[in-house]
Amino acid sequence: MNASTLPRDPRSLPPDVRLLKRGERFLEPDVYVLDVDGRPAVVKDYGRYRRTPLSLPARLLVRREARVLDRLRGWRHAPALLGTIGGLALGIEFIPGQTLGEVALDAGSHVFQQLRGAVASLHAAGITHNDLHPANVLVAGSTPVLIDFASAMRTPRWLRWLPLARELRRSDLANVAKMRQRLTGQGPSAREAELLAPPRWVDAIRLGWKRVYRRLKRG
Ligand SMILES: Nc1ncnc2c1ncn2[C@@H]1O[C@H](COP(=O)(O)OP(=O)(O)O)[C@@H](O)[C@H]1O
Ligand SMILES: [Mg+2]
Repeated sequence: MNASTLPRDPRSLPPDVRLLKRGERFLEPDVYVLDVDGRPAVVKDYGRYRRTPLSLPARLLVRREARVLDRLRGWRHAPALLGTIGGLALGIEFIPGQTLGEVALDAGSHVFQQLRGAVASLHAAGITHNDLHPANVLVAGSTPVLIDFASAMRTPRWLRWLPLARELRRSDLANVAKMRQRLTGQGPSAREAELLAPPRWVDAIRLGWKRVYRRLKRG
C-alpha cells in the first residue's frame, strides 16, 4: 500500500470507496474500505489533520496502532496490519462481519467466553486495549475480533505489577462484563463482580475529577 492508493481528499471520497465511519470528533479518523489488488482493505485516515497542529498527535495514534497490530500479527482475534501510508493513515485487513452491538446473539453463544479469553491473552502479551465497547469488537462467523488499538498500551514485563497497569487490565475485563450484561442480560457472578469493582483509589480519583469538572463548568 502506498500514499497514491489513498483518495486525495478523504473528505470527498470517490463513489467506489465505502465509508465506514466519518471522523467527526476530536482526533477521529475517516474509516473506509478500499479495494487493494482485488481485496478489501480498511483505511483509517487522519488526513484531515495534515498541516494542522494536530498532525503530530494523529501521527502518534497511527504509529501506536500500527505497532500494536504488528505485535499481534498472526493472532486470530486482531486484524492483520497491511501498513502505514504516509504517516497519517493505516491500512488494515478487512474483517467481514458485524460489530458486537449489531449481531443478534443467541442464548448459547460463546462469543463472550471467547472474548474474555482473547482479552486475557492480550494482557498476557503485555497489552491492554483501553477502549473496549461494542463498536470496537467485530464478530466474524462466531469469532470475536478486537479492533481499534489507538488507545492500547504496551507495558514492559517488569512493570506489569504496577497498580496502574493492573487497573487498565481490570478495566478491560470490566468492559467485557458490562458489554455482556448490556447485550445478553447476563450479569457478573458475585466473584466476578468483586474482582471487577474498581479499587478505592480509582473511585477517589474519579470522584475528585468529577468535582473539578463540575466546578469548571459552573465557571
Ligand atoms: N478491520 C476492520 N474490518 C471491518 N470493519 C472495520 C475494521 N476496522 C474498523 N471497522 C469499522 O469501522 C468502525 C470504526 O473503526 P475504528 O477502528 O473503531 O475507528 P475509531 O478510532 O474512529 O473508533 C468500526 O466500529 C467498524 O465498524
Ligand atoms: Mg472505534
